Amino acid sequence: MANLESLASLAAILILVLVEVAVLSSFAAAQLRPDYYANVCPNLEGIVRYSVKQSMVKSPISAPATLRLFFHDCAVMGCDASVMIISPTGDDEWRNQDDYSLKPEGFQTILDAKAAVDSDLQCRYKVSCADIIALAARESVSQSGGPNYTVELGRYDGKISTTNSVMLPHVDDNLDSLNSFFYTLGLSQIDMIALSGAHTLGAADCGFFQHRTRGKDPSMNPSFDAQLQGTCARQNFAFLDDVTPVGFDNSYFKLLQNGRGLLGSDQVLYTDQRSRGTIDYYASNQGIFFYDFSIAMTKLGKVGVKTATDGEIRRDCRYPN
Ligand code: HEM
Ligand SMILES: *[C@@H]1O[C@H](CO)[C@@H](O)[C@H](O)[C@H]1NC(C)=O
Repeated sequence: MANLESLASLAAILILVLVEVAVLSSFAAAQLRPDYYANVCPNLEGIVRYSVKQSMVKSPISAPATLRLFFHDCAVMGCDASVMIISPTGDDEWRNQDDYSLKPEGFQTILDAKAAVDSDLQCRYKVSCADIIALAARESVSQSGGPNYTVELGRYDGKISTTNSVMLPHVDDNLDSLNSFFYTLGLSQIDMIALSGAHTLGAADCGFFQHRTRGKDPSMNPSFDAQLQGTCARQNFAFLDDVTPVGFDNSYFKLLQNGRGLLGSDQVLYTDQRSRGTIDYYASNQGIFFYDFSIAMTKLGKVGVKTATDGEIRRDCRYPN
């Protein structure tokens, strides 16, 4: 009798353990934490912070290009640095038309930060490129005057990058298209709007917005229309936020209120009644924008995270090991 009872309780414990293992492994992809490298590379954040600072001194394009790189990394195949891979066959994400406009300065910022991390003997070959992109994106934001949010770490680098895997939103997408794209990443409309606030930094080539000028898009402010015609006659780009192009702030949302959003996908957030309230909110309260942006970046950073089973710690961010 006693034997049977202990057998039953042993079986119960076994089942409990099995269930726990199954639950834990199904969440393995979400095991990110801020102190992931505390033992192997205690000064990681300081190293990346200083390296990004130097990149930003070298080029005003570094911060915007690095922030955009993080989005394009996470949105395609997850945050696994697949966007960095250069394939000898030419089949890689970067060769897709939607990634071709990623600026070299962003890639260089990551390569330099990786070299700085690996020049520390303790850290060498232990920190993933995906985590360095996430950290460098945060530095690009905070060192431009934006929020200094905590970055979760522990991503592995992917081994695959293909041209056809690239699916990204486009400049003429309406609110429903933008929402459904971000929804596939597990992000809400609020997250999408907050993340669009990244367009407080950087620039876009005239090809992305020129078709809206000359009165073709009624949501564009006429004086902004005239201004852009002049800009594109002079040079091939315009700033996404021409009030403070290198400052991370909420002026992007104030511009939308005045019909001065550069891309169609920016201005539609104000034109559509369903998102206008959030634009007004962020335009009037930078602190709330910074808070929501930090949350949305953290959520974006969890998309499709790889583990030791399907990933690796890449030695050269441009090539799988
Ligand atoms: C909502 C959908 C989005 C669309 C349609 C979009 C589209 C674009 C386009 C067309 C450009 C100009 C590229 C060029 O001419 O070089 C651009 C630039 C930029 N995007 Fe987005 N984007 C979106 C969301 C985001 C998100 C979520 C982020 C980051 C969180 C982001 C960050 C940036 C940055 C920082 C730049 C400036 C890049 C530079 O100056 O090199 N974008 N975006
Ligand atoms: C962000 O916070 C860290 C840690 O407190 C600090 O060392 C760093 O200087 C801050 N960065 C900015 C740009 O304020």
